[in-house]
Amino acid sequence: MAGKVTVVGAGFYGSTTAQRIAEYNIVDTVVLTDILEGKSEGLALDLNQSRPIEGFETKIIGQTTTVDGQGYEVISGSDVVVITAGLPRKPGMSRMDLIETNAKIVRGVAENIAKHAPNAVIIVVSNPLDEMTALTQLASGFPKERVIGQAGMLDTARFTNFVAEELKVPVSSVKTLTLGSHGDTMVPVPSHCTVSGKPLSELLSAEKIEELVVRTRNGGAEVVALLKTGSAYYAPSAAAARMAKAVIEDSGAVMPVCAWVNGEYGIAGVYLGVEAQIGKGGIRKVVETKLSDSELAGLKEAAEAVREKQADVKDL
Ligand code: LAC
Repeated sequence: MAGKVTVVGAGFYGSTTAQRIAEYNIVDTVVLTDILEGKSEGLALDLNQSRPIEGFETKIIGQTTTVDGQGYEVISGSDVVVITAGLPRKPGMSRMDLIETNAKIVRGVAENIAKHAPNAVIIVVSNPLDEMTALTQLASGFPKERVIGQAGMLDTARFTNFVAEELKVPVSSVKTLTLGSHGDTMVPVPSHCTVSGKPLSELLSAEKIEELVVRTRNGGAEVVALLKTGSAYYAPSAAAARMAKAVIEDSGAVMPVCAWVNGEYGIAGVYLGVEAQIGKGGIRKVVETKLSDSELAGLKEAAEAVREKQADVKDL
């Protein structure tokens, strides 16, 4: 076993991501950092003590860091760095309401990563996702294929779960897809949804599919409203951990992620939710899939919406 993954931010999202990656038992070291004194050290101690029970050898290192970069030496040599730092939404907030606060936090983190782990692949999960991914690329100066955002895996998983619950079938028999932004212009792609190979449109009415699409688009807000403090982390961390695994194993897995799009679908120069092949260098390639006219129009609309916002992040 070799390899090192760092998770920046030891909130629920960060700590569960660190836990999942450690439990895969595929890397020597998982580093968990936070600016709250002692928090990541405490969680690391606790996680390490779970190793004999869960049966994994990955060692977890907790490290308090400061905004000006103290403590970041510990991330040196990381193959993957997952950025979870930033505030989550409160009930009633949109992801976009977080942009100014989280931009400052994410910019600082990206600069410290560039300094201490210049060869890492960065996976961004902080919100608003598409904008924070673009900002991380700018602030780190990393090649675009080495900065990826997590959103599509999560949105797709939510859609799949809703379809499986509606039809009372195993989640493993359902395939769905969502593209576009991790926000209002999310584009669930019903034409690519199947249940045991059958098109979803043969199993559910157009109205029911639309209802599940809307629930998927609001999937994060539904959890936030119930929790009252904090946002979802079990499904989000599962998605981020799988992306990290694909990088570590250089697997070439194709996943819906937020990736730099340069000509695919007739869209260029923007970070957008698309399917992409993931390997040790980050994005190997964006995988284009056939979309219906209305789905393609939705994707283009999403691209223009996020392009406008991404252009603003350089000043934040
Ligand atoms: C969500 C947040 C994490 O969708 O973006 O739950």
